[in-house]
Amino acid sequence: MFDNPSLLIASGETPTGQINWKSPSNIAIIKYWGKYGVQYPRNPSISFTLENAFTQTVLDYEPKTDQGEGISLDFAFHGEENEAFRVKMVKFLESIRPIFPFLNQLHLKVRSGNSFPHSAGIASSASSMSALALCLCTLEDELFQTLQEDELFDKKASYVARLGSGSACRSIYGGMAAWGETEAIIGASNDFAVPFMDEMHDIYKNFHDDILIASQSEKSVSSRAGHGLMEGNAYAAPRYQQANDRMKTLVEVLKNGDVETFGAIAENEALTLHALMMTSEPSYVLMRPNSLKMIELIRDFRQETKHPIYFSLDAGPNLHLLYPETVIHEVRPFIEEQLVPLCEEEMWISDWVGEGPEQLEEVGE
Ligand code: PMV
Repeated sequence: MFDNPSLLIASGETPTGQINWKSPSNIAIIKYWGKYGVQYPRNPSISFTLENAFTQTVLDYEPKTDQGEGISLDFAFHGEENEAFRVKMVKFLESIRPIFPFLNQLHLKVRSGNSFPHSAGIASSASSMSALALCLCTLEDELFQTLQEDELFDKKASYVARLGSGSACRSIYGGMAAWGETEAIIGASNDFAVPFMDEMHDIYKNFHDDILIASQSEKSVSSRAGHGLMEGNAYAAPRYQQANDRMKTLVEVLKNGDVETFGAIAENEALTLHALMMTSEPSYVLMRPNSLKMIELIRDFRQETKHPIYFSLDAGPNLHLLYPETVIHEVRPFIEEQLVPLCEEEMWISDWVGEGPEQLEEVGE
């Protein structure tokens, strides 16, 4: 869709420069789980873009001295060279050379870091792949002035981010973003995400998503393997149908501000995601005992107080606590007194719906 063999630097030109983006993570309310082809989703998904959980990526570029065909890349994560991440990134950059053929002509230095502790067990593929995609689109625009229109820039960044990690395509937009074909949203596509900010009811615009770290351990099964296991899952077909149907209900609820129905869908989606993992062959469980304890406490607290507070889960053990700004003063003491003691090393991250990625000033070496 975005392949462009004409994006080559003319001989004699020696471009150098630096690009710096910060891009956030996101939490899906309708989950993407199951894919086909080159990172196409089996069902539509929609997420809140977060504010405080982000990746910052600095890309320095200069002409390549050795004119070989390969990608030339130095990579550092949190200030330290990381060969495993470098190899992964080289592979990804190689795969997108038909989109950015000039990558063969440059030497790239990428420095990346997350706002959240590396050990927190928070998936960073959405924030890191979206930050990288934004850097690459800015690089294209600096070299060729081909992405001057914001809408086109965002669409291409979302498309490229998707190729790196499906959920990353939604992080390009602030507020909410939807990915995957659905009748519920005009213009929704399997190729890239579309923003869902304008139609969103005000109550969701500053919704909170506090992340409670139930366990910092690495996931025993990667998302990539998890998506793959959906191919043999007996519940796959009804699940995709369910997600399609739910998308229609959720879009209505997001427009009309019916937070109770929103919460019921969010929680069921989280548990459905984990049920799909438990019913895969081989099956696996990513929730930890404290994830379940927190779920019970959240449901008890909701029942007792009638406050609209709900949970979600990513493909991991950590709880995402979703609630509107209006109840923050009631919810905070509950988090601190009852949930934080169940977090590993009492670790939790206060987060909320954010405005999306931001290009930053140049930094030094
Ligand atoms: O983007 P991936 O391949 O890491 O998949 C992540 C999928 C979930 O986070 C579990 C759900 C979602 O839609 O973000």
